[in-house]
Amino acid sequence: MKLWLISDVHLDSHPLNFELWKLLAQRANLEEPDVLVVAGDVCESIQVLNEGLSEFSSVNALKIYIPGNHDLWCRLEPECDSLKKLEVILPEAVKRAGWYWLPNNPFVIDNYYLVGSPAWYDYSLMPKGHPFQTEDFVQKKRGNRQWMDGVWCKFPQVAPETVDFWLRDRFYLDLHKDLSQCPANKKILLFTHFPFYRELLNFTHKDWDFEYFGAFMGSSYYRSLLKEFSVYLHGCGHLHRFCDFISEEKTRVVMAPVGYIKEWGSDTATQRLDKVLTRLDLE
Ligand SMILES: [Fe+2]
Ligand SMILES: [Fe+2]
Repeated sequence: MKLWLISDVHLDSHPLNFELWKLLAQRANLEEPDVLVVAGDVCESIQVLNEGLSEFSSVNALKIYIPGNHDLWCRLEPECDSLKKLEVILPEAVKRAGWYWLPNNPFVIDNYYLVGSPAWYDYSLMPKGHPFQTEDFVQKKRGNRQWMDGVWCKFPQVAPETVDFWLRDRFYLDLHKDLSQCPANKKILLFTHFPFYRELLNFTHKDWDFEYFGAFMGSSYYRSLLKEFSVYLHGCGHLHRFCDFISEEKTRVVMAPVGYIKEWGSDTATQRLDKVLTRLDLE
């Protein structure tokens, strides 16, 4: 089974991001992967998302969409809230465009059981001995720098001081339920937007004003799922850093983020796509 993984396309951040997306569609038409997984941070704007998803109308693959934090932003649709985007607007847009909404909706293909969730952060990736209190992270602000989910993700149903734990728990319970229903003879391919791995963050324990933002990079809370369910592969994103390694739970972890244009160096869209698109050949 040919599976392609990519994340953090940020379609509406720059015209070159959209160009890369079109190149991906052309390439998928030519090379015909069986599955294409986009692991979150596709697009903030619903209108651009609709345009983007329709670029793949002639691509025959199973096209899987996982929402990321940017997909839940409501900056461009102030009448909206993030829960409505998560539960109604995004799943409907994805299905309408012929893509597959994986959260709460596992998919069996060949020898594999595909499970997905945005997952979330709960400040647990911060290293031991950090100088912050939970209240500091609830602010999502340090000095004059702001973690923008605190402004543009809107969950009016939940108190701000508990929203991250509420999301973390909700996504954990959903994932646990989906994972526990895996047929005995299938291998699990897990896809989330947020990663679970503190070892990817390289804390220096010096510049805490900068390292404060590690609180919002993912959660180690989900990590026990890898062992409990013998997860074969975990594809994720959010960190805007490529990686492919075997975790201590023996799960292969892959991240394939496109990221923002300022992170591309001198790459063209074609070069960036060549660097990040991860093609997996699974038996
Ligand atoms: Fe991103
Ligand atoms: Fe993200």
